[in-house]
Amino acid sequence: MSVLVTGATGSVGRLVVDELLARGATDVRALTVDPARAALPAGVEVVRGSMRRPDALRAALAGVERVYLAPDPATAAEVCAAAREAGVRHVVDLSGEPESWWGDVTRAVEASGLPWTHLWPGDFMENLLAWAPQVRATGAVREPWPEAASAPIAMADVAAVAAEALLGEGHEGRALGLAGPQVLTRAEMARAIGEALGREVRFVRVDRDEAVAALEPAMGEGAAWYVDTAVGGYADTPGAANRLVEELTGRPATTFARWARRNADAFR
Ligand SMILES: NC(=O)c1ccc[n+]([C@@H]2O[C@H](COP(=O)([O-])OP(=O)(O)OC[C@H]3O[C@@H](n4cnc5c(N)ncnc54)[C@H](OP(=O)(O)O)[C@@H]3O)[C@@H](O)[C@H]2O)c1
Repeated sequence: MSVLVTGATGSVGRLVVDELLARGATDVRALTVDPARAALPAGVEVVRGSMRRPDALRAALAGVERVYLAPDPATAAEVCAAAREAGVRHVVDLSGEPESWWGDVTRAVEASGLPWTHLWPGDFMENLLAWAPQVRATGAVREPWPEAASAPIAMADVAAVAAEALLGEGHEGRALGLAGPQVLTRAEMARAIGEALGREVRFVRVDRDEAVAALEPAMGEGAAWYVDTAVGGYADTPGAANRLVEELTGRPATTFARWARRNADAFR
């Protein structure tokens, strides 16, 4: 089974490469702008190119059966058209509900006529790394809604599901709304990071502007969107956990406590 991973140096795409290799895939091709910088593992065929450069893309798609599509709304339609032309039989896309920011990717994939599996993750555990600068500097996180609750998922678990959808059978036509195994409030997430560090991480309730300012060192202009839409959204409507990761991959989903222990150095 030959698989092309686009966005192969991305935060999820890179993990998809690892998961494919861990599952014994032997014909994995990775598309990246700069193969030297990408430092992809041995056993992967690295192809120089970009989703934004159709010529190189066509060469990368030659002989490929399945594609992991990284979330780039600007190019999704063009990449899918090239994949179809190349004879690709299944695309697994990281995208989102049609009404979400990532809906353009979903629509482009479905319009292409290719068999698809959509990966629709909710909140990523890795988003909490945006707390790291303030935790390091002050030992606290500053946000407006301690009770806002979501079921964050580890990117590695999204990648493991992607690998299963690419290598396994019977996943075509499924939109997988991926969530983590537990619902946690923002205050509980701060506490879990503190436990991983072996010292308290305080949750300090502040107004929206102060929360945005505290996140800007990590998130830049995205901080306002994150506070207003993502965290604010969870304050209005809590996220729900599910067991899709375990059901699809056969291994337990990463708990937030485990993720926090693995990433504790970022908060020290
Ligand atoms: N439902 C959701 O919540 C949802 C859904 C979809 C996506 N997301 C977001 O997607 C991110 C994870 O996806 P990811 O790991 O693929 O993203 P990423 O970390 O942004 O990486 C994407 C990769 O694609 C390539 N790339 C990036 N910008 C490009 C451009 N303008 N032109 C051409 N190539 C470009 C780069 O690879 P090379 O330089 O190696 O070519 C890059 O490493 C998360 O951070 C999340 O915020 C969220």
